Amino acid sequence: MNRIRTAVIGTGFMGRVHLEALRRVENVDVVEIAATSIDKARAAAEGFNVLNATGDWMDVIRDPSIDAVHIATPNAEHFPMAKAAFEAGKHVLCEKPLAMSSAEAQALVELQAAKGLRGAVGHNLRYYPMVQQMRRMREAGSFGDILVVQGTYSQDWLLYDTDWNWRIDPKVGGPSRAMADIGSHFFDMAEHVTGLKVSSLCSDWQTFWPVRQLAKGSGETFSARPGAARSTVGMEVVTEDFGATLFHMTKNGKDQARGAMTASQVSAGRKNGLVLEIYGTKGGASWRQEQPNELWLGHRDAPNQVLLKDPALMDAKASAFADFPGGHAEGYPDTHKQLFRRFYAAIADPSLTPDYPQMRDGLRQMKILDAQMASNTARAWVEVPE
Ligand SMILES: NC(=O)c1ccc[n+]([C@@H]2O[C@H](COP(=O)([O-])OP(=O)(O)OC[C@H]3O[C@@H](n4cnc5c(N)ncnc54)[C@H](O)[C@@H]3O)[C@@H](O)[C@H]2O)c1
Repeated sequence: MNRIRTAVIGTGFMGRVHLEALRRVENVDVVEIAATSIDKARAAAEGFNVLNATGDWMDVIRDPSIDAVHIATPNAEHFPMAKAAFEAGKHVLCEKPLAMSSAEAQALVELQAAKGLRGAVGHNLRYYPMVQQMRRMREAGSFGDILVVQGTYSQDWLLYDTDWNWRIDPKVGGPSRAMADIGSHFFDMAEHVTGLKVSSLCSDWQTFWPVRQLAKGSGETFSARPGAARSTVGMEVVTEDFGATLFHMTKNGKDQARGAMTASQVSAGRKNGLVLEIYGTKGGASWRQEQPNELWLGHRDAPNQVLLKDPALMDAKASAFADFPGGHAEGYPDTHKQLFRRFYAAIADPSLTPDYPQMRDGLRQMKILDAQMASNTARAWVEVPE
């Protein structure tokens, strides 16, 4: 198989996650890393044994020998970088949220199609093995017709008014924070697992800290240390710390299920508390990211069960996402590996039907996000376009 030459832009939390996961994908060589300075890029390149480093991401775009680009930078950079990469004939794997608006996301979907290139978006959380198990059991009818979808994505890393990150600034993160950053993962998984579509919703958001204290020289994602004394400057905040959304879901355009979810970055003690629960006419299932190797199965007339991740005992299609035997835990980094592996398999074989979250899935999340924003502003139910 021909090896695919790729580059990673961004060396923060996600850039390093991508670099690690890419080393586990069989047909890829990472040939360049781009950061905001040549020193940062060189430090990452040395750490990950990558030959080339640059402080200017356009070097990656201009290099005709590079086949694919990973975009792991703050949200405002996604659109210009993905657009430039597609225009230069490169495949693109872009982190979520795909863009700052539906219009930008739509433009990327159209550009990718026009260029005939592969495009993926970082909704990796669908690829926990037990999430795939829930999906395949639902497809097999184990839960009957889905009636109720519920859950949360709760974190606490922005709880204090002294916590700061670029996501808080709408010019860098976009007009939404908690819902765009983590709520989008919930909705991507809810539609992926149930096969239903969110058709309308009612959303209520809150910014608990209208002013936050920005530490001078504030750091990267999840980098704050409790109790660290810092010199700060007050910054006005308009993006939401918390959001709650009621929603309707349809199957082939026909009304079917009801749902409720919350997204929070201020829930003390919840580090990465993503919970997805589905309840149908025959049974239910509940999955928690903080115990990802377990799937709770709920029954009305029999004892409930907890299924432990074991590829030998899982649905055959779901077990393709479990690379280690039973009792050997798989977690967050493995979800990226599973996504990247499928993305690069599709680049290597143009005849393959994409089996990963695509640009159009990123656009779908932007539309759900737009509807939530409109609902919160109008304090009313809003339809979600297809
Ligand atoms: N899929 C997931 O599970 C997941 C998890 C976390 C973050 N993300 C997404 O990944 C993206 C990055 O988030 P993060 O948490 O890594 O942020 P981060 O702040 O930790 O890292 C961002 C990096 O991008 C760099 N950068 C900014 N502008 C750049 C430019 N022009 N050229 C090169 N580098 C540039 C910054 O210097 C920084 O190192 C965001 O879009 C976020 O939503 C996805």
